[in-house]
Amino acid sequence: MTTLNASEGARFARILSLGAAVPSRVVDNAEMCTYIDSSDEWIQQRTGIVERRWVGEGEDAESLAMDAATTALERAGLMASDIDVVIVSTVSQFVQTPGLAPILAAKLGTDGAAAFDISAACAGFSYGLAQAESLVRSGAARHALVIGVETLSKVTDLTDRSTAFLFADGAGAAVVGPSDTNGFGPVVWGSDGHQADVIYMTQTLQEVAESGTPSWLHMKGQPVFRWATGFISEAAKRCLTAAGLTPDQLDVFAPHQANNRITDSMLRHLKLPETVKVARTVKHYGNNSAASIPMALDAMLASGEAKSGDTALIIGFGAGLVYAGQVIVLP
Ligand SMILES: CC(C)(COP(=O)(O)OP(=O)(O)OC[C@H]1O[C@@H](n2cnc3c(N)ncnc32)[C@H](O)[C@@H]1OP(=O)(O)O)[C@@H](O)C(=O)NCCC(=O)NCCS
Repeated sequence: MTTLNASEGARFARILSLGAAVPSRVVDNAEMCTYIDSSDEWIQQRTGIVERRWVGEGEDAESLAMDAATTALERAGLMASDIDVVIVSTVSQFVQTPGLAPILAAKLGTDGAAAFDISAACAGFSYGLAQAESLVRSGAARHALVIGVETLSKVTDLTDRSTAFLFADGAGAAVVGPSDTNGFGPVVWGSDGHQADVIYMTQTLQEVAESGTPSWLHMKGQPVFRWATGFISEAAKRCLTAAGLTPDQLDVFAPHQANNRITDSMLRHLKLPETVKVARTVKHYGNNSAASIPMALDAMLASGEAKSGDTALIIGFGAGLVYAGQVIVLP
């Protein structure tokens, strides 16, 4: 029998750098209440959101992703040509093909890096990191660029008072590369397609073409809330156990920024000590799906709340339903 060569990768991988792009348009709750029948008080009390960021003049998913990725590359001290694979997570790209990843790979100046999009909604960044880590450790790539980018404002139905106040735009990026020490605990991930109908686009592309009306991102808030505070809290606990950490060994908790009440509920479940720094960027950024975790980590590092070398528990969850989480070492 013929024996094939197998790729050989690094023993360990870690995140070498992060970058983020915060869209310029600030939409506060007062403006939101000109679109929907609501109040600043209700939105803050139910979600913790004070304002959200939407793309402004001259900004789109591509420009946000480019900004975040360029910053991450600079911080890693790498050239675009050092990147072997670009993984983009998004659910608000407006064409099914080509993917955004090959376009970004070319614009960034990679040397024809492998590039693909993934659709894992608000879990997309953690899904992308899990793949990047595996690719680096298998030897399929030396450096991987993971980008979470969304322009959910473009798929938000501003007449729907049950969702309009949540969704937002943004981008975050991470460069993953080889390391002498381990920068990733085992990924804990999964899906529940039986709940595919709780977060979904209201029309297929075919229906959009036939009806001439847009397709919106719709969500049944309560089942998502129950799933996130129950099953996902438990999954977050499994991430810690899988990494071999006890709660007191954790420095940072950065769950998907969906809603502060979900974060609070997870905190109670995980029994994290008060020393753990908790991401709360939903307050000023809103829920920007695949971009929320890297943007939260980037903001916490920038403010000094988190520091290089900290252990951080991240977990994303959303449409599918899908989820993924892992403990990471911050760059
Ligand atoms: C969306 C969410 C904030 C809604 O909160 P809720 O408490 O479930 O709200 P409900 O739909 O049960 O409505 C409760 C009341 O608020 C009212 N209400 C709904 N939307 C409102 C709004 N925008 N402004 C003011 N009142 C509103 C309802 O009419 C209802 O009033 P009633 O009690 O008089 O009938 C909540 O379900 C949630 O956080 N879900 C998780 C969503 C999420 O984060 N998803 C992201 C995962 S990726």
